[in-house]
Amino acid sequence: MTTPEPDADEALSASSVPPGRPPLHDPFDVMFLGWSFFRSKLLTSAMDLGVFTSLGDNRLSAEEIVDRAGLHPRGAQDFLDALAAVGLLLREDGRYRNSSGTALYLLPDRPGFVGGFLRMTSELMGGEHDALTSLLRDGNARGQGSGGEVPFTRIFHDPDRLRKFLSAMDSFSSAVAPGVTEIIDWSAYSSFTDVGGARGNLAAALAAAHPGLTGTVLDRPSMEQHFDELVAERGVSEQLRFTGGDFFEDELPRADVLILGGVLHDWPDDRRALLLRKAHDAVREGGAVIVYDTMIDDHRERADPLMLSLIMMLQSAQARGFSPAQCISWMTDAGFTAEQTVLLPALTTAIVGRKN
Ligand SMILES: C[S@@+](CC[C@H](N)C(=O)[O-])C[C@H]1O[C@@H](n2cnc3c(N)ncnc32)[C@H](O)[C@@H]1O
Repeated sequence: MTTPEPDADEALSASSVPPGRPPLHDPFDVMFLGWSFFRSKLLTSAMDLGVFTSLGDNRLSAEEIVDRAGLHPRGAQDFLDALAAVGLLLREDGRYRNSSGTALYLLPDRPGFVGGFLRMTSELMGGEHDALTSLLRDGNARGQGSGGEVPFTRIFHDPDRLRKFLSAMDSFSSAVAPGVTEIIDWSAYSSFTDVGGARGNLAAALAAAHPGLTGTVLDRPSMEQHFDELVAERGVSEQLRFTGGDFFEDELPRADVLILGGVLHDWPDDRRALLLRKAHDAVREGGAVIVYDTMIDDHRERADPLMLSLIMMLQSAQARGFSPAQCISWMTDAGFTAEQTVLLPALTTAIVGRKN
């Protein structure tokens, strides 16, 4: 008897998957693989900026490292904490030192130095003038919302960039939507407003999961045509409507539940607090606010949200990550009672606040 030959696909996947590692299946594993370049950028940027050599065998505060390595303060704290989170630095009592591996292998004057090879391979891959290193030197954003421009203006004049942006937003909102559809007892409510809800991807998921709900998506007026297309495609046009406007200037549409998803990270603290006060005005008594975003854990120990905060800073001059504790304080100051904090997929944290 002869053993059948494996077909070509099977042979390919068997030979290309390292032993012990199952083929990727989960969408978040795929996303994390796509992001893994960022860990390597942390390492090469820290070398290029002289962070490890500035530290040498010392324990220094963030301010001292900023001074010695000539870092711009804007991204420095998140950068140093991200370096600690991936094990390149150790953080103790607010001071940093090189981890043993960094001291052995990433200081150019040590015999075990492997950084020369890392730098060469990184440069060959095009990482010579990378945006992260530039951000850490000059603090400037490179994407929309850079150079003093109000974020989310230019993007609406560039259909190609808008399409890419909407696809990126949908990747996040699709990941968090199942969690948001269950985070509160929606049967107790009849309406919601998704503030800065883009083309309505999350709103459409909520409407589909809870046919008794009606919702309003507030976003820039130019978003309306994209909203119309999406809700028609999903068959939820009857439940959802669009309001074009400016969430800082205009009153927010009243509803039982207000959602601020992936919005607060784009703005400075005073504007975040303002949006929560406006949300409080717009929510009916007994209603709720749901804030979801890629929040930095309160102990600043998870590398990915810190890296995402740096990516936000690259994107836009006012953007940066924030923590659940910060969010709860803006909520509380606005008059909400923070009721629950839930970890959702794709590095997202959701916080529910109640208006009593
Ligand atoms: C980062 S996106 C988040 C989108 C969506 N909530 C999500 O979770 O995918 C921020 C959204 O806020 C909208 N936006 C920005 N500034 C705004 C403003 N001043 N008024 C209304 N919408 C605004 C943008 O057009 C964009 O759709």
